[in-house]
Amino acid sequence: MKSTLMAAVLLRGAAQAQQMIRFGCSQLVVSRLDPLVNPGLEQSPHVHQIVGGNSFNAHMPFEPGFDLVKNSTCTSCTFSEDFSNYWTAVLYFKARNGTYKRVRQFPNVGLRTDGGVTVYYIPPYDGKTTVTAFKPGFRMLVGDAGLRQNRGMQKQLCHRCLGAGYDRGGAPCTGSDTTNLPNKFCEGGIRTTITFPTCWDGKNLDTPDHKSHVAYPQTGSFESTGPCPSSHPVRLPQLMYEVMWDTQAFNDKNLWPEDGSQPFVWSTGDG
Ligand SMILES: *[C@@H]1O[C@H](CO)[C@@H](O)[C@H](O)[C@H]1NC(C)=O
Ligand SMILES: *[C@@H]1O[C@H](CO)[C@@H](O)[C@H](O)[C@H]1NC(C)=O
Repeated sequence: MKSTLMAAVLLRGAAQAQQMIRFGCSQLVVSRLDPLVNPGLEQSPHVHQIVGGNSFNAHMPFEPGFDLVKNSTCTSCTFSEDFSNYWTAVLYFKARNGTYKRVRQFPNVGLRTDGGVTVYYIPPYDGKTTVTAFKPGFRMLVGDAGLRQNRGMQKQLCHRCLGAGYDRGGAPCTGSDTTNLPNKFCEGGIRTTITFPTCWDGKNLDTPDHKSHVAYPQTGSFESTGPCPSSHPVRLPQLMYEVMWDTQAFNDKNLWPEDGSQPFVWSTGDG
């Protein structure tokens, strides 16, 4: 395995009993659907790429016992047991004439996927601290589609400007990774990392904002077993996505904005 994260985990956790899970999920659909934030709405405000179980649809009411994935019979993820759905915004290139082109994707290191998302479930590095499995019907949301300023959310979303070849270097959100989209050509494309909260209130499968039932560790990181707030005492596995964007077709200074700004825009409208 060439995965740099895996290398980092192996190095730091040589004595650890638990191992992380990493797998690819191919694209199920790219569509204006977001049954978490806009249940039942068949044109959500922005476009998403969705991966996972085949029962995915616009209707995901928050009702006791309702579990969208119950009706799934197959999945676009590598593990046939995982009927979860995962979705993210998609990336566009804004041309000088104002039109938008959707950025294609490429497979992550060591995986064979058609578009999609690389999913990680990561245990604490100490090899002792236990986590509680996600309960059926559990949902959560990370980030804020309306946010346009960096407010110290580096841990939740970062971008890596990849070099040529398989120069993937270092654990996510370290080194030269940025919260903003890279403001230069990335020879090897852009990798987006999305890191979910790992502390749960232990009761709610969801909350109206889809966030309040979970929290990030109070100090430190999940990996270093940073403490959970007393309001959210139950440790969850670290769920993390990586999304690989093939921006190479746009590495041409005749295409980039003349004012030097970077031209990529999320489907949420956020540049
Ligand atoms: C599963 O499918 C049945 C039959 O179409 C439907 O009544 C039910 O609501 C579905 N359940 C979920 C969780 O989508
Ligand atoms: C706008 O620019 C893009 C990229 O240069 C080009 O592919 C597209 O055809 C242009 N569209 C129009 C309407 O001129």
